[in-house]
Amino acid sequence: MSQPSFFAEDQSVIESALEKLLPAESTRPSTIHQAMRYSVFAGGKRVRPILCYESARVFSQHVDAAATAGCALEFIHTYSLIHDDLPALDNDDLRRGKPTCHKKFGVAMAILAGDGLLTLAFETLSNANIAAERRVRIISEIGHAAGTVNGMVGGQVADVEAEGKQVDGAALEYIHRSKTAALIRASVVAGAIAGGAHDEDVARLGRFGEAVGWAFQVIDDLLDVEESSVALGKTAGKDQVQKKATYPAVFGIEKSRTFAQELSQRAHRELDCYGDRGARLRELANYLLSRRA
Ligand code: IPE
Ligand code: IPE
Ligand code: MG
Ligand code: MG
Ligand code: MG
Repeated sequence: MSQPSFFAEDQSVIESALEKLLPAESTRPSTIHQAMRYSVFAGGKRVRPILCYESARVFSQHVDAAATAGCALEFIHTYSLIHDDLPALDNDDLRRGKPTCHKKFGVAMAILAGDGLLTLAFETLSNANIAAERRVRIISEIGHAAGTVNGMVGGQVADVEAEGKQVDGAALEYIHRSKTAALIRASVVAGAIAGGAHDEDVARLGRFGEAVGWAFQVIDDLLDVEESSVALGKTAGKDQVQKKATYPAVFGIEKSRTFAQELSQRAHRELDCYGDRGARLRELANYLLSRRA
């Protein structure tokens, strides 16, 4: 399964929106703006913004504001990567094919660049061209997903605390659903809300996003075992070295692949009722499952 035909086009919409939203490198204090731009433009796939954008398109033809919300999600995601790579967390040197933010700018500036991106995300959402009531719902969904209660930060805490320990399926589920699926679910939900979806559709797409997001982290774990650092643009094989709680470590490669496929089928079932309108989200789900980087 290759990249969907619309993927590159969506990426370029997102790249130019990111470009406009980020302060210029010369803006005082320039070091942090250089660091923020360095990590954002190091070459991410833009999965979360594209999911947001394409979810909105299921319900509306006016999707510019969903692209803006998507950029906010990319800011939060990039912040999570900068902090994930810090010496006190995963201690990585390579990210998106380049030296990590702290390798390039130092730990202090990397911490602050993450803080800056997280804050910019919520400023961006507050200013998005979306009716106020829906905008506030989006902010609440994304705030929750990035946070400590079943959200990204909570999942990162559990991930760090699980290092070197024997974990069971339930603990693994908590880590993956929190650290990764929550923000991917929120990307899909934010797009649906921005597109004016009814509550039952927002809930259905939320279940789609949850399953896709969970599968996404299972695949990330598999790629860490199966691919090279060059292919991934980040250090391969590090999960085993750091004794991380991963699906392949607990269940083995084959069962992990099968599980990711089951999650993908679960995601697809949620789209059945949308017919052709769901085609792009189906293609995205297939691509995210079969990707090699
Ligand atoms: C990597 O995310 C970290 C996870 C949550 C698995 P991506 O695979 O989306 O990384 P980029 O944004 O393309 O660099
Ligand atoms: C990170 O999981 C999830 C985040 C919330 C950043 P990983 O630690 O597996 O992500 P990579 O492999 O470093 O991208
Ligand atoms: Mg990590
Ligand atoms: Mg990591
Ligand atoms: Mg990983």
